[in-house]
Amino acid sequence: MAAENRNDRVSLYPCGRPRKEFPELLRLVLLGATGSIGTQTLAIARANPARLRVVGVSCHSRIHELAAELETLRAAAPEAPRPLVTVVDEQAHAAARAEGLFGDRLLPAGDGALEALVRAPDDLHVVVNGLVGAAGLRPTLAAARRGVRIALANKESLVVGGELVRREARAHGAEILPVDSEHSAMAQCLSGRREEEIDKLILTASGGPFRQTPAADLEHVTLRDVLRHPTWDMGPKITVDSATLLNKGLEIIEAHFLFGVPYERIEVLVHPGSYVHSFVQFVDGALLAQLGTPDMRLPIQYAVTGEKHWPLAGTRLNLLQIGRLVFEEPDTGRFPCLDLARQAGRAGGSAPILLNGANEVAVAALLAERIRYVDIAGIIARTLEAARSGPVGSLEEALEWDALARRMATAEVARRAS
Ligand SMILES: NC(=O)c1ccc[n+]([C@@H]2O[C@H](COP(=O)([O-])OP(=O)(O)OC[C@H]3O[C@@H](n4cnc5c(N)ncnc54)[C@H](OP(=O)(O)O)[C@@H]3O)[C@@H](O)[C@H]2O)c1
Repeated sequence: MAAENRNDRVSLYPCGRPRKEFPELLRLVLLGATGSIGTQTLAIARANPARLRVVGVSCHSRIHELAAELETLRAAAPEAPRPLVTVVDEQAHAAARAEGLFGDRLLPAGDGALEALVRAPDDLHVVVNGLVGAAGLRPTLAAARRGVRIALANKESLVVGGELVRREARAHGAEILPVDSEHSAMAQCLSGRREEEIDKLILTASGGPFRQTPAADLEHVTLRDVLRHPTWDMGPKITVDSATLLNKGLEIIEAHFLFGVPYERIEVLVHPGSYVHSFVQFVDGALLAQLGTPDMRLPIQYAVTGEKHWPLAGTRLNLLQIGRLVFEEPDTGRFPCLDLARQAGRAGGSAPILLNGANEVAVAALLAERIRYVDIAGIIARTLEAARSGPVGSLEEALEWDALARRMATAEVARRAS
């Protein structure tokens, strides 16, 4: 094996280490309660009122959706105290206050509001981070500083601040368990194993809606086409990322930080059915996989519970109906974002931050129908070229690189949109 950076071998995931011991009733804060991950987490809480107590929730601006979610949660556990509520957007916060939506449970809005929510409950065991984008990093760091279990869906936390999260989690004994279905699959394969036993990680990818679309046709795909994911029903940003395969690139970086495996030993296989959620190959050649229907409640629940298989109602995989499993090599010619992410991960320092910031700007522009699907890769590549990357030693530096990426990508969007 080639000489590896020592840091590459330090996993965030508690491989081979005991899980945190918590009381029977887990108290959790849910960041991003109105999103796809958030509402599925609330469904799990509703199904397990004696074992899960939601003590804090957040949304950005969809206050009425949040109020409706909390109403159904209350119906499932009428005796439970109402959770604290953070509404990040100041205008939406003012509207919630004016309408008396959350009464005295509403915390202040604005900068630092999510970190304040994580710090607020006296007794806290789990933080579920279902936020989208780099906005998830600061609350992840706040949760790490509380030394709690973090059920992490927000992969951007690790892409933008992998080293920072690693540092805080280690210093404060926080436990990071993945929610992304691929990384959860790997965690399930790694149950009872140690890091030294891992040879390589194989991430599976559905291939997205354009798996078979010829390169020339990609120039003309519409936003509707982009948002038509073949197997998963998710929020808009990750759905776009799945269509460009940048999501799989972000997952390579996420896997690198979570499991301490160097980039050259993290592979991607396209698996159109999304039945196999990922593989771990061990040093003796054993290849383990986790299979299941595409249902995010399983990985969310597995992370929240500290890796327990609690009962979960739902469709089961019918292997006879599937018949055979298909795997393909990803086409990095048609999907350049995959290689851009791998290169940024390998370059380290600020490169993954630039990649992520440029992508967030490009995805927002696509969702606003200002640019075309094929512009996304160009905007990311241009940002990575133009901003020469450097080291990142602190959160402030990470946020400066993020801001730089956004400025550059915004200029590139304007150039392409005009
Ligand atoms: N969805 C999935 O099945 C899935 C699977 C694997 C991994 N993930 C990862 O999980 C994360 C969440 O994805 P999602 O699909 O659940 O996203 P989503 O449906 O778009 O939900 C995002 C949540 O974050 C809130 N939010 C958005 N921007 C915010 C900001 N700037 N500050 C504070 N809160 C903000 C939203 O509030 P409002 O509703 O008020 O806007 C919403 O509650 C992403 O990192 C994604 O990659 C998702």
